[in-house]
Amino acid sequence: MIWEPKSAASHLMGGEGLTSCRRVGGFSVTGCGGTSTTMTFSHAFLAVGVAAMLAGTPAWAVDLSIVSGDTGDGIKVLREILDRYEKDSGNKVGIVVMPASGTDQFGQYRLWLAAGNSDIDVYQTDVIWAPQLASQLVDLTAATKDIVAEHFPSIIQSQTVDGKLVALPIFTDAPALYYRKDLLDKYGAKVPATWKELADTAKLVMDKERAAGNRDIWGFVFQGNAYEGLTCDALEWVMSNGGGQIIEPDGTISVNNSQAAAVLDMVKGWVGTIAPPGVLAYQEEESRGVWQTGNAVFMRNWPYAYALGNGEGSPIKGKFDVAPLPAGTGEGARPVGALGGWNLAVSKYSKHPDAAIELIKFIASPAMQKYRTLKTSNLPTIQALYDDADIARQQPIVPRWKQIFLDAVPRPSAATRIKYNEASSQFWNAVHNTLSGDGTAADDLADLEAMLTKLKGRGW
Ligand code: GLC
Repeated sequence: MIWEPKSAASHLMGGEGLTSCRRVGGFSVTGCGGTSTTMTFSHAFLAVGVAAMLAGTPAWAVDLSIVSGDTGDGIKVLREILDRYEKDSGNKVGIVVMPASGTDQFGQYRLWLAAGNSDIDVYQTDVIWAPQLASQLVDLTAATKDIVAEHFPSIIQSQTVDGKLVALPIFTDAPALYYRKDLLDKYGAKVPATWKELADTAKLVMDKERAAGNRDIWGFVFQGNAYEGLTCDALEWVMSNGGGQIIEPDGTISVNNSQAAAVLDMVKGWVGTIAPPGVLAYQEEESRGVWQTGNAVFMRNWPYAYALGNGEGSPIKGKFDVAPLPAGTGEGARPVGALGGWNLAVSKYSKHPDAAIELIKFIASPAMQKYRTLKTSNLPTIQALYDDADIARQQPIVPRWKQIFLDAVPRPSAATRIKYNEASSQFWNAVHNTLSGDGTAADDLADLEAMLTKLKGRGW
């Protein structure tokens, strides 16, 4: 039986080689290739031999399942990595494929974990989820003590809750301003350093291209849908305009201020002018769809769009480059990128926690992170890979983005602890209201402050 991934954007992903044979909670499981949980004696015997070579691998082969969202080539490359793991270990791993939206994933994972679901061994988790999911994840501290130093300490820190490492990083994320080199050159325009310059250049190039017959071109695409991605984009607009970090590291709610309101009013002015009206429903893959077909001058997106844009058959291959996001113009304005990234966590309800820990160590290892980066241009979390010659040659964005991700600003998940998802959803909804013309930025931010204050109560 074939179960199709539910993601609206799965057609952008390719998806070859994905067969499915199991379904968990309404989502597809891929790559288990008809394997049953009982394996033949000879296969199991072979697995014992391999296990003996892999320190810490259990001496009996098992079936594991990993759940992950579906963006770009992420699932395809994960399958390739798992194929190698299966060969080395004798274990089998099925992927439960989820929609691309981290917000949808989080809602489902919380339900599964609350129900003590033992069908999922490993969750691919967003950098912001650690405090909220920590109590239902296995403490990895002891099992990873020999390898954590390979990773950037700040990333390990972000996945450490009350002294316990709850997820092992597999890639980090910091956004880029993607721009069409060919079009900027054609009209003698510079790479914009401020949002105002970006809007002006977007309009200039778009108007001239349209006049020349390029009817489908837009100036700028970003993530305007009401979900976690809009929290990232809007944190960047607000903080880059000197409007603070929404909720500061000490827990103070700072978002209701005039610099935040000014920048959100400016962004509202882009919708339907330099950005398509549909941008208010765009997530990462919808933005990339417009950009990669050659229909946008600028795009805000994560590094994964770099490899895909330069892939075989891409209409914009070789025609674009990346720059840091622009800054605003208020007092304290500076370029700001939101810190993203993904990790692997072992469920407390897994029936095979030791095998699951070995699996995540394999996927997060320097060799597999290098493989993923070469294929997807995801930023590795292993420090040494930023000096790797193959990566620098094949995915030059990676060494260029080291300082950008080190300087990236975290969303207030550490400050708001178990209330982060609610705080973030109140923020993205307020911003989405403003961008849709439902209230002014000043009114929406005043309402937001009142709601966040109530949510905070006597403390986060
Ligand atoms: C990227 C980031 C992740 C963020 C998401 C928002 O996947 O890595 O941290 O939450 O985008 O859509």
